Amino acid sequence: RQKLIDQAEQVLRRNDRGSYTVPTHGLYPFQWNWDSALSALGFKHFDEARAWTEVDTLFAHQWDDGMVPHIIFHERDEGYFPGPDVWSTGRPVPTSGITQPPVAGFAIRRMVDEARDVDLALSRARDLLPKAHAWHEWFYRTRDPQGTGLVAIIHPWESGRDNSVDWDAALDRVSTEGVQPFQRRDITHANPDHRPTHAQYERYIKLVQTFRELDWDTSKLHDGSPFQVVDPGFNAILIRSCEDLADLAERLDQPEIAAASRAMALRGVAALESLWSDDLGQYLCYDRKIGAPILSPSVGGLIPAFAAIPEHRAAGIARRIEELGKSCEYLIPSHDPTAPDYDGRRYWRGPAWLIVNYMIADGLTRAGQPEIVARIMEDSLRLIERSGFAEYYDPITAEPCGGAHFTWTAAMVLEILD
Ligand code: DGY
Repeated sequence: RQKLIDQAEQVLRRNDRGSYTVPTHGLYPFQWNWDSALSALGFKHFDEARAWTEVDTLFAHQWDDGMVPHIIFHERDEGYFPGPDVWSTGRPVPTSGITQPPVAGFAIRRMVDEARDVDLALSRARDLLPKAHAWHEWFYRTRDPQGTGLVAIIHPWESGRDNSVDWDAALDRVSTEGVQPFQRRDITHANPDHRPTHAQYERYIKLVQTFRELDWDTSKLHDGSPFQVVDPGFNAILIRSCEDLADLAERLDQPEIAAASRAMALRGVAALESLWSDDLGQYLCYDRKIGAPILSPSVGGLIPAFAAIPEHRAAGIARRIEELGKSCEYLIPSHDPTAPDYDGRRYWRGPAWLIVNYMIADGLTRAGQPEIVARIMEDSLRLIERSGFAEYYDPITAEPCGGAHFTWTAAMVLEILD
């Protein structure tokens, strides 16, 4: 146990670039949004000041409209595609022009709750609170123009679950006309069988080109995007961060932020209900472009346990995870292993991810589901013991997949063990 803790710390230190952390050397050489927020949770176990710096750096690159970008290109690195020239967002320090799951609000609150240096935590949180809140407001303003209570992602990369089966049909409808030839870099760092396909990459790039043609005006991108999907997992992360900011704002005596955050969270939880499927026993994504649910049994429909959903829904998710446990060795597969498009090694089409296990387990603990939480945690540690700090794992064979020495995997190990 102590050995695993020491190794996890080493992974974080190795990927530390001073004021931000790379997810892993080579494959991801910059700062990624949700990686950073979750990695800060790891740093807090041995260096609280460094943990706060991670989140501060992320918000230092927030756009004026409130968006926090998904990648910050702090230094040049030719080993990644698409780099800053492809994005061309015109930011002083280059960033991408889309966002990622807003888990930072949750992370900030947790860092305050567990702080040893409470003064430091409260002063940093006081500074970050309006910034995180502005990001949440940006979401509901620009990604929910009809006021449904649910926000849409406009690019699979925003979901964090890049190549999930969830996006297949919606992404197929994105034309590849006018996509400039490009050379991928990811498959020089990782096994191509673990990564998205070329056909998917062409569409990822087409979407980037589309948004670039709209001059990265984030008030226009939602309506201008050929891809608009409501992801229950993404929404749940946003809702959870709104709930956490509401609590934190109360503690910091900021009643306006507290009330606004609470209201967004409550609306979000109520709206999530429309995504529940009795047939599949989980939440489903919704394709806003064609106005239809996406019948895909992925882990995106289980992540809502992370938000304050009704108790019977949390119990439903616990049952669904138990069911998934019958067709794999290690919970939680990112796609149902019995479904036709399941692929146990291909990124978000089957592999288990420790950050997902952590978020779902956290929510199910709050919801009073200790048995399934114990199994999820046990499986997570067995994966680490067998296969090290990988980016993700085959949920049947435990094969380590994607990048190695992965920052947020190590951070989650510290959260679980320390
Ligand atoms: C990648 O390059 O694979 C990232 O997930 C996109 O942000």
